[in-house]
Amino acid sequence: MDKTMHDAAKAALKNAYVTYSNFPVSAALKLKDGTIITGVNIENASYGLTNCAERTALFTAYARGYRKDDIDSILVTTKQNHLVSPCGACRQVMRELMPEDALVTMVDASGNHKIVKNAELLPLGFTKDDL
Ligand code: THU
Repeated sequence: MDKTMHDAAKAALKNAYVTYSNFPVSAALKLKDGTIITGVNIENASYGLTNCAERTALFTAYARGYRKDDIDSILVTTKQNHLVSPCGACRQVMRELMPEDALVTMVDASGNHKIVKNAELLPLGFTKDDL
């Protein structure tokens, strides 16, 4: 597991806006130029408008001008004692905005982790090639 990414994600957990779920999630995105961009979940009184940590990190990277081929990997962590994996909406967005072979690391509060490839999270995914 990449310690720099893990440290960045843990430090950003406090910024999660989790008024409704009290379930902070943090993601650290590593770019090939070494930059690390963090994202947290940002909730809303209209619950469905919540933006997950993974999408916040990816959208921030794209807003700064980075694109798919600039992305190395992503790490996701929470305060839970079990691994939390990206939700379906995030998997769809990750499939489009990150390379298929980008590594996705899930880390629990004790530092236990699991690493998978982006494409493994969304078998038979719908992509722009289907359009
Ligand atoms: N959440 C994330 O930010 N990322 C995930 O991978 C799973 C779920 C957030 C959404 C919501 O703010 C809270 O966790 C509870 O569902």
